[in-house]
Amino acid sequence: MARLKTAILISGRGSNMQALVDAAADPDYPAEIVRVVANVPGAGGLDRAAAAGIATTVIDHRNFDGRAAFEDALHAELTEAGVEMICLAGFMRLLTAAFVERWLDRMINIHPSLLPSFKGLQTHERVLAEGVRFTGCTVHFVRPAMDAGPIIVQAAVPVLPGDDADSLSARVLTAEHRCYPHALRLVAAGQTSIVDEIVTVAGAAGPTGIAVNPDDGVS
Ligand code: GRF
Repeated sequence: MARLKTAILISGRGSNMQALVDAAADPDYPAEIVRVVANVPGAGGLDRAAAAGIATTVIDHRNFDGRAAFEDALHAELTEAGVEMICLAGFMRLLTAAFVERWLDRMINIHPSLLPSFKGLQTHERVLAEGVRFTGCTVHFVRPAMDAGPIIVQAAVPVLPGDDADSLSARVLTAEHRCYPHALRLVAAGQTSIVDEIVTVAGAAGPTGIAVNPDDGVS
């Protein structure tokens, strides 16, 4: 079985990257992580990737004159590495429509909310300020608009009395680490198709969701 050659783009600690790398350590997993790229020198995830034997590259956006030049370098690096699929995992640069088009339906992202609610930053603070009872995370195909695109997998996570942004973030992150490898598996195995910007999963009766029990973690 040919495994889908996948790059992970990070800007920070890389815990979602680690979850993907761990999943792909299984030779039966349908994606292979061939490269980790960071736009931030010293991003914590770089050491974690190197420790797992994954080739890493730093492309510091501050060294480029504008987004297009940065993205051209990124695209060249990915193409040279034979990358077929991109996973954004805490990658904190907005990508231009031109780059998104180049990787259309071959680039996915994880966001720590139940999209389309709570796009953008400070997600958990805003969730708490609104008093919603459930939040979660979403893995979706990337489209030019920020945190938008066909949804592959979501997990619902309860907001509990007494939560602060840190405790909620930690609970959601546990779900993220389950959702992302699951979503990449579905895509890499060819089980997803997009019709009218809705993802259907072969063999699934409906949308793919993961429910989270606050007492026993992700189920
Ligand atoms: C995650 O919460 C992810 O959903 C968001 O940024 C955070 C990255 O964390 N996009 P990590 O670097 O994967 O640990």
